Amino acid sequence: MNKYRKFLFFLSSIGVLVVALSFFSFKTDIRIHEGYVAQTPWENLKVLPQNISKDSLDHLMKNYAMSLGVKCTHCHVPSKADPKKLDFASDEKMEKEIARGMIKMTDDLNDNYFKPYFPEPKPNQVHVVNCVMCHRGTVNPEKYLSQMGGMYKTYNPERDNRKEKIMEEKRKH
Ligand code: HEC
Ligand code: HEC
Repeated sequence: MNKYRKFLFFLSSIGVLVVALSFFSFKTDIRIHEGYVAQTPWENLKVLPQNISKDSLDHLMKNYAMSLGVKCTHCHVPSKADPKKLDFASDEKMEKEIARGMIKMTDDLNDNYFKPYFPEPKPNQVHVVNCVMCHRGTVNPEKYLSQMGGMYKTYNPERDNRKEKIMEEKRKH
């Protein structure tokens, strides 16, 4: 019986020690976070906020890619130093520049045409309009819309596709 009690005491002191230690490690963790200053590693943001966190940027980029049904390489070129990696800061691809206009457009629609008409208290940000609302997994929404019979003008690459026109201009020079 005495042995059994000793054993119980031993067990509970280990328990107390574990709780105390976990408290301590929790505390040090908090101190680390307090001293942490958010880094802004971004080199070439012209539309998104300069101090956007890596998590938020990753989330947005994946969302763009999924909405258009493309990979990162649709807007980003391979790095010259290491072609296996992408040079995310480069503005070489016209798709990236077009995407900047698209980001501004959706922000503008949300901020100026949806948010003001939300009831009080208004949310800080609204995300009613987004890329997938128009794109639905394709790069050019006009293509699937033109398949909807008489509901939309017929897709005409000569007239509608800005990218074709830019490429044609480039070929001329
Ligand atoms: C539809 C086009 C598009 C796709 C697809 C896309 N991006 Fe981007 N990305 C952009 C645009 C536009 C910017 C610049 C935003 C700005 O100017 O504020 C950017 C910026 C970035 C940056 C910041 C570069 C810097 O330092 O300035 C990173 C990192 C990035 N993208 C990663 C990715 C990854 C990873 C993927 C694939 C999951 C991806 N992107 C897919 C359009 C795209
Ligand atoms: C109001 C509808 C609408 C919304 C919202 C929209 N787009 Fe677009 N987008 C279009 C149309 C239409 C085209 C094709 C016509 C053109 O490029 O001139 C297009 C073309 C593009 C292209 C060029 C595609 C290519 O390679 O041919 C990119 C890149 C793009 N959009 C990115 C985005 C991103 C990123 C978002 C969200 C931030 C977005 N779009 C939101 C309508 C929209």
